Amino acid sequence: MNTDTRPPSQAAGSRATPPTFDLILFGGTGDLAMRKLLPALYRRFAAGQVAHDARIIGIARSALSAEEYATRAEAACRQHLGADFQDETWAGFRALLGYVRVDATTSTDYQNLAAVLKGREAITRLFFLSTAPDLFAAICKELAAVDIVCPTSRIMLEKPLGEDGESAARINDTVGAMVSERQIYRIDHYLGKETVQNLMALRFGNAFFEPLWRRGQIRHVQITVAEQLGVEKRGDFYDRTGALRDMVQNHLLQLLCILAMEPPATNAADAVRDEKLKVLRALRPIGEAEALIKTARGQYRAGIVGAMKAQGYLEEAGVDPASRTETFVAIKAEIDTWRWAGVPFYLRTGKRLPQAVAEIVVTFDQVPHSIFTGRFNSDPPNRLVIRLQPDEFITLRILAKAPGESMRLKPVDLALDLGESFKARPLEAYERLLGDAIAGNLTLFMRRDEVEAAWNWIDPIRAAWDADDDGPKAYASGSWGPSTSSALIARDGFAWHDEL
Ligand code: BG6
Repeated sequence: MNTDTRPPSQAAGSRATPPTFDLILFGGTGDLAMRKLLPALYRRFAAGQVAHDARIIGIARSALSAEEYATRAEAACRQHLGADFQDETWAGFRALLGYVRVDATTSTDYQNLAAVLKGREAITRLFFLSTAPDLFAAICKELAAVDIVCPTSRIMLEKPLGEDGESAARINDTVGAMVSERQIYRIDHYLGKETVQNLMALRFGNAFFEPLWRRGQIRHVQITVAEQLGVEKRGDFYDRTGALRDMVQNHLLQLLCILAMEPPATNAADAVRDEKLKVLRALRPIGEAEALIKTARGQYRAGIVGAMKAQGYLEEAGVDPASRTETFVAIKAEIDTWRWAGVPFYLRTGKRLPQAVAEIVVTFDQVPHSIFTGRFNSDPPNRLVIRLQPDEFITLRILAKAPGESMRLKPVDLALDLGESFKARPLEAYERLLGDAIAGNLTLFMRRDEVEAAWNWIDPIRAAWDADDDGPKAYASGSWGPSTSSALIARDGFAWHDEL
C-alpha cells in the first residue's frame, strides 16, 4: 500500500509520471458524479496529475454503453467546467472513461466488473461509493464475494455515513471486515476546501494566534454555514435527514474541530485526526433537559431569497406536508477542556437564509480596564472574521482613534482578501480529495472513531427533539431563521454577527 503522506502536489512534483489507478465509481450516473466528481477528475487530468493509463469506471444500474456514459459525462463536464473545458483535453480524458452496468444488490452483475478489473491487481484500485448509504453494506459484501478488493484497494465513502451512531457503526463494521482502516477514505467535502485548510495554516503557521487562542482571551466563537438554496431535487432524502444530520454532524463539527483542536505534532493523518477526536470527545453532551435551551431548530416557509420568490419547505417535492424535519439549526456547543472551558461555540446552519455564506467569527475579550471614556471606547471588542465562502477573506476588527480633536475610538477592519493576494484558482474540494485518495494521503478524511464520536454527540439531541411535542419553529425564507435562534445566543448576552 502507498504510505506516502505528502500532499499530492508535493508527491506529484517528485514523480516523473503520476501514479496510475482504477477508480470505480458507484453512483456513476448520479448527481455528485456528474456535478462534482467527473469535472474534478477532468481538472486533475488537465493539470497533468492523472496517468494516461488510469481508468475511471462509472457504475450504475442503467443499461448504458461506455459511449453513452462518456456522452453524459461530457455534457456534465461542459456544463460545470465552463471555459475550463477544452475539446483537446477532453479527448484524452475521454479515453480513461469506462462503464459497467451493475445493480448494487445483484450478485451476478459484479462478475462483469471483476472481468474488467482482472490483471490490474497491482495498481491502486479505488472504489468510490457515492450511493445511498443503505447500499454500502450490500456493495461491500458483493465486492468481497467476487474477490476484487485487493491490498492496493481503497474504499471511499461519501457522506452521510449512516443516520445515527448505530447505523454508522454497522457500515464501519461491514467495510472494516473487508479492508483495514488505512484503506478507508470517509469523505467530508468541507475538509477538502482550500479555505478550510487555510484555517489550519492560520492557526499553526502563525505564532501570534496561539497565545490568544483560548479561554481568558476569546469570549465566544460563532460558526455559520448559511445557504440560500432550498432542498432542490433532494426533498425525499432531506426529509429523512434534516439539517442536524446533513450539516452539523459532519461539516460544522469538522470546522469546530479544526478551530478548537490542540496543535498536532505533524500534519500526518493520525496526528491531526487524534487531535480532532479529542475535541469531539470533550464536547459537553446535550441531553433532553438541555436540548431545548441549547438548541433552536426551524423550518422554512415561503418568502423571498435574493429577490426571488421561494416556496415553503412543506410544499417542496418529496417532502411530507406534515414534516417536522428541521431546515435550520442553531446550537450552543461547549468543550470541556482547559483551553475552552467557559467559551461557548455557537453553531448555526440553515437553508433559504438571506446569504450563501460560511463564516467563523471569533470574538475576543474586552480590555480589562478602559482608560478611555465614551461610546466605542472599549466596545465592540476585537473580532476576527474568517469568511470561508463564497469569497475567502479575513478581517480583524480593532479599535483605532478617529481623526479629530477628541480621543474618540472607532472600530476599523484590517482586511485581507486571500483571493486577491494569491490570484490563483483554488482547488475544488473534490479535486483535492480525489488526488489525496489516489496518493494515499488520509489527513483530510475522517477516521472511524471521529465519525462515531460525532454521532455520539448528535444522537441525544436528535432524541430530545423527537421526544418534544413541539416541532421546528417556522421562519420565512430569506430570514436568518426562527427567533429562537436569536434568543439562544441572547440568553448569554451575545448576538449573532449579522445582528450586530
Ligand atoms: C452537503 C449537504 O453535504 O453540503 C447539502 O448534503 C449542502 O445539503 C452542501 O447543500 C453544502 O456544501 P457547499 O460546499 O455548497 O457549502
